[in-house]
Amino acid sequence: MTPKSKSAAQQRPQPQVIRAVGPLRAWVSRVRDKGETVALVPTMGALHAGHLALVRLARRRADRVIVSIFVNPAQFGPNEDFGSYPRTWDADVLALSQLKVDAIWAPGVATMYPDGFATRIAPGGPALARLEDRFRPHFFGGVCTVVAKLLLQVAPDYATFGEKDYQQLKVVTAMARDLDIPTKIVGLPTIREKDGLAMSSRNAYLSTGERAAAPALYRALTDCAKHLKAGSPLAATLGEAEAQIENAGYAVDYFEARHAETLAPIQSVKDGPVRLLVAAKLGRTRLIDNLQV
Ligand code: PAJ
Repeated sequence: MTPKSKSAAQQRPQPQVIRAVGPLRAWVSRVRDKGETVALVPTMGALHAGHLALVRLARRRADRVIVSIFVNPAQFGPNEDFGSYPRTWDADVLALSQLKVDAIWAPGVATMYPDGFATRIAPGGPALARLEDRFRPHFFGGVCTVVAKLLLQVAPDYATFGEKDYQQLKVVTAMARDLDIPTKIVGLPTIREKDGLAMSSRNAYLSTGERAAAPALYRALTDCAKHLKAGSPLAATLGEAEAQIENAGYAVDYFEARHAETLAPIQSVKDGPVRLLVAAKLGRTRLIDNLQV
């Protein structure tokens, strides 16, 4: 077969799939030897347009982009969805090769957490803000442990994270600062479906009826932000937003207004900048979202 007769897919350089720390370090060394910069995009796979926007952001920042795909058991609680979390490897590799990603770091659980693994990061500050941590007490310890490992393994110049997981973005930024990890943490605004629903791998769990009701979450955020900007009182306006979401069929974990940087509780919009943060369950699917006021 002549090179010309190859299909476009065959000609496209595939991202290099790396599954062990040794080859990962060798890849990073080769890139560094050429004087090139590196951006890491940490993910748990089941990639959607939000993840792909993070990849494009990484591409704008650095010469080389490496995407990690690892469903991290350390950040799931015993009764959470680790076992059923969507895994879509072939589609993920195809999407990343279309974006000309240079490498995919895809370690197995035994590579990340070998026998005898006994160290866990215990984040404070924004990780104890009583938002996600109130409902998922193990979550940010697990996230920080895996993200610290990823940042030490790859030692990237940049790592990109979505504002979709706003508290996570603040927690990871604080951890990198506190541990003197020199990687610059770069945030990306939330990518949404046309009807406003924040893209999430967990949206795949929604039934047709639930999917139709789901945009109420973002509508409540935008309505609440609008009313607060117009001067409506904080507590009453948050209460209305919560009722609005419940009327759409959600069971609300929290709907809160916090200081956008510290995540500290606020008494009034004047204490801002203000970020609204919500978590709610639609059937068995737990969704989160947030919006700047
Ligand atoms: P995951 O849920 O796969 O998300 C990977 C990254 O994509 C995170 O930074 C997340 O905030 C971002 N993201 C998800 N949906 C987005 C959207 N709609 N718009 C913009 N960004 C979006 O978050 C995790 O994985 C894990 O906790 C991880 C950081 C990889 C550690 O295991």
